[in-house]
Amino acid sequence: MKEWYDAINDATTVERIEEIKISIFGKKGILAAEFAKMKSAPNEEKSKIAKELNTHKSSLMDELSSKKMTLQTQELELAMKAEGLDVSLFSTTSQAGALHPVMETMDRIVEYFASLNFAVKTGAMVEDDFNNFEALNLPKYHPARDMQDTFYFKDEMLLRTHTSPVQIRTMMTTKPPIRMIAPGAVFRRDYDLTHTPMFHQVEGLLVDDEGKVSFANLKFILEDFLKYMFGEIEVRFRPSFFPFTEPSAEVDISCVFCKGDGCRVCSHTGWLEVLGCGIVDPNVFKAVKYKNVSGYAFGLGVERFAMLIHQIGDLRSLFEGDIKLLEQFR
Ligand code: DAH
Repeated sequence: MKEWYDAINDATTVERIEEIKISIFGKKGILAAEFAKMKSAPNEEKSKIAKELNTHKSSLMDELSSKKMTLQTQELELAMKAEGLDVSLFSTTSQAGALHPVMETMDRIVEYFASLNFAVKTGAMVEDDFNNFEALNLPKYHPARDMQDTFYFKDEMLLRTHTSPVQIRTMMTTKPPIRMIAPGAVFRRDYDLTHTPMFHQVEGLLVDDEGKVSFANLKFILEDFLKYMFGEIEVRFRPSFFPFTEPSAEVDISCVFCKGDGCRVCSHTGWLEVLGCGIVDPNVFKAVKYKNVSGYAFGLGVERFAMLIHQIGDLRSLFEGDIKLLEQFR
């Protein structure tokens, strides 16, 4: 039997293993011959011979299958080498991606308001005149429409000029109370250092029973939010005008570049304007048929925030897809 163990050991191909297997276990193989021989052995030795043969049978079987596995692996490795393709090799040019600074800033804004249970609404980028202007107390020919000139389609459809129409969409389909923010892209016919035809805003709206929502609530939450975004800064509210809020205010933070001393970025005022807000105008509630409610709203430009946080001088550079520039904000 020893020579069969040696033969298995010496085999160098899977094919050879198959041959050996047949010569040992085949109908005319050595095991069959040995068992046949046993028949003519004296009776008292038969069981001993049978036992030995069975032991060999199972250990030869084991040897064969483990050798076969080894040879198969070797053959596969050789074949892969011959093909010259190593699929486990890493490409030296691959790089981990990262969020665009505008998206990263938007995520942080959403994170803040989501933690206060504001629901996130998206609305639609192609809007109708009613949602984008009319219901927001901006009737046709109102001069405030001029500041938001955009791209029009037929039938009073347009690319939304702000995220405020999401307020209308939400109120038209939901009963108060409401606590929502609307992050998303908006469009205007502008192009200079601080304006691009597409940019992003985050809108906020809170509505509750009449008398429950005050300007003090609005002021508290916006101050807390701006400190979360910009760190240790001063915040001030200035009276302003928006058709959809009354009273309205614009909110400034102390300049993040000169800490309020006055520099080129803040036009030597020490302050930077960052958002608009106010108490929801009764005409807006009338348009969506809400009664006996009060609310506050605010809106901000995400690019403006990203530029101040990352100290970016030209807004347009954010949309040129220049990896070298964008990589700096990872
Ligand atoms: N929609 C305004 C804009 O795009 C921003 C804004 C100001 C939104 C005041 C508001 C608000 O909700 O109360 O200029």
